[in-house]
Amino acid sequence: MRPRLRARVAGVGGHLPARVLTNAELPAHLDTSDAWIVERTGIRQRHLAAEGELTSDLAVAAARRALEMADARPEDVGLVLLATSTPDNTFPATATRVRERLGIPPGPAFDLQAVCAGFVYALSVADSLLRTGTAKSALVIGAETFSRILDWNDRSTCVLFGDGAGALYLVAEEQTGTVLDRGVLATHLSADGRHYHQLYVDGGPSSTGTVGHLRMNGREVFRHAVAAMSASAEEVCRRVGIPPSEVDWFVPHQANLRIIDALARRLGIPDERVARTVDRHANTSAASIPLALDVLVHEDRLRPGHLVLLSGIGGGFAWGSVLLRW
Ligand code: UT7
Repeated sequence: MRPRLRARVAGVGGHLPARVLTNAELPAHLDTSDAWIVERTGIRQRHLAAEGELTSDLAVAAARRALEMADARPEDVGLVLLATSTPDNTFPATATRVRERLGIPPGPAFDLQAVCAGFVYALSVADSLLRTGTAKSALVIGAETFSRILDWNDRSTCVLFGDGAGALYLVAEEQTGTVLDRGVLATHLSADGRHYHQLYVDGGPSSTGTVGHLRMNGREVFRHAVAAMSASAEEVCRRVGIPPSEVDWFVPHQANLRIIDALARRLGIPDERVARTVDRHANTSAASIPLALDVLVHEDRLRPGHLVLLSGIGGGFAWGSVLLRW
């Protein structure tokens, strides 16, 4: 094997807004129940950003923790890549504000929009830029304030989502070129716009000039989610020659416990190696995977050397997977 550059995770961080909205509080305003939400989704609570608390605030807090864990200084950071569908403004990229607020000197910063697949997309792009030497290190952040685009009168969607942010700090490192290397080992991305209207926001700068609200055909999303994510997860594992059943951790996008369980069953991954944070975070879109990674690390369950399989799907549909060694 020839030595090759790998994007290795050096730090992880997460941040959730202080306000917790439990299922029990919802029936006061909405025809729903804790029992329905728990049975159909596994969600018990979600965090909501306070008035004036923006996606950039959550992103900055999560990124700061990732840098602290890596013992990295702002001037060490090359690229800042922010996966979000709820930017502070239509433009400029929220990543530019995050970069400035963290005191990182000028350099590349941009947002990436692939909704709930945003984090696997961003990680895959960062991996490419690190392996080609375009940047020596990268902050890859998923941050969302979905509470701002929910129709709080639509019980079929508003109970499902929450706000939050998670971040990884990655460094480019020359390693041996084998599957024992630490860092990103394989990535797979895909999208199919034939499903554009199964999960979308009914507004936007070019169409209505308004922000709009999230609309979803939940059953259709559910059906595609299991098939697309399992095929994508199998593909990254095939590329590296390791069956999904042998990963140490499976960290799928956290949207619905039933989807997570069905995926794990299909991939043959035992329960104790599957991340489940949807009960406390709900669906935080691009933030869900890095937030789950942060929980696993801080509970001392995810450790250096573990093989980790990430998989996500969201509006578009867009989906993808990343296999990495922590
Ligand atoms: O992050 C992007 C990925 N998004 C997802 O992965 C979401 C995927 N989809 C899902 O998670 C599920 O489809 C949902 C949780 C959204 C819905 O679960 P479901 O088992 O597919 O329920 P359903 O949509 O078939 O609705 C069943 C019933 C309906 O009533 P009727 O027509 O049977 O009388 C709904 O009106 O449940 C009703 N319902 C609710 N009842 C109480 C829908 N939302 C609620 C609610 N509380 N919040």
